[in-house]
Amino acid sequence: MNWGMKNRISRIIKPKTGRCVMLAVDHGYFQGPTTGLSDLGKTVEPLLPYADALMITRGAIRNWIDPAVDIPIILRVSGGQSILKELSNEIITTNIDDAIRINASAITCSVYVGGEYEKETIDNLSKLVDEGEKYGIPVLAVTAVGKEMARDARYLGLASRICVEIGAHMIKTYYTEDFGKVVEACGNVPVVIAGGKKLPEMEALQMAYNAVSDGAVGVDMGRNIFQSDSPVGMIQAVRAIVHEGKSADEAYEIYEQSK
Ligand code: R5P
Repeated sequence: MNWGMKNRISRIIKPKTGRCVMLAVDHGYFQGPTTGLSDLGKTVEPLLPYADALMITRGAIRNWIDPAVDIPIILRVSGGQSILKELSNEIITTNIDDAIRINASAITCSVYVGGEYEKETIDNLSKLVDEGEKYGIPVLAVTAVGKEMARDARYLGLASRICVEIGAHMIKTYYTEDFGKVVEACGNVPVVIAGGKKLPEMEALQMAYNAVSDGAVGVDMGRNIFQSDSPVGMIQAVRAIVHEGKSADEAYEIYEQSK
């Protein structure tokens, strides 16, 4: 791995703890004005001091984020589908030149293993890896799960390992029972979990705790933070689990006290 690639990863996965809290706000790229993100800038601004990286599209960053902000950007460079159509029909929407202009610390696309356009999404990932390797920009592969896919360790391990074999530098997947097997399938490639649909706060915190206990380096969480009744309290609580090794109960206290 070249110096630039290592340096960019170190901006995201903090060397002090080897962990990271990514804040995902890229949902609009296929589902439009997601609850909590209509005024994306207003939602994100108070959360930034507690996030290690921001996962976002180029349109959202240019419209809602101050360029003077001090946060590594994980740039969502894929899209082309919507919730009204086949989700796996994804293309690369942002070229590497624009990712460099934005000063992205990483680029990301989704891979739909088992989906109708499985091959095309794996091809998207392989092209991003080629571009990323050329310029020292790491690629975060998201194992997207179609409606019909089981989110079990066997499937997520299969999807994650395929992304590793294609060359992804970081993997984002879902938490599941036997999550340690998913992490194991990825070898030395760091794994983070998505939060998924909004859960009661305690459940989301327990999931984050279980994921890092099972070997994830952290989370790339969106709705369970920005759709909480206390988004700042929630990201502080998640941070305490990820970086300070707090239990879910201890983290819940942080969330409760913030209200
Ligand atoms: C989905 O592919 C999007 O990239 C989101 O960033 C991702 O699902 C994480 O957000 P959430 O925690 O809301 O699931």
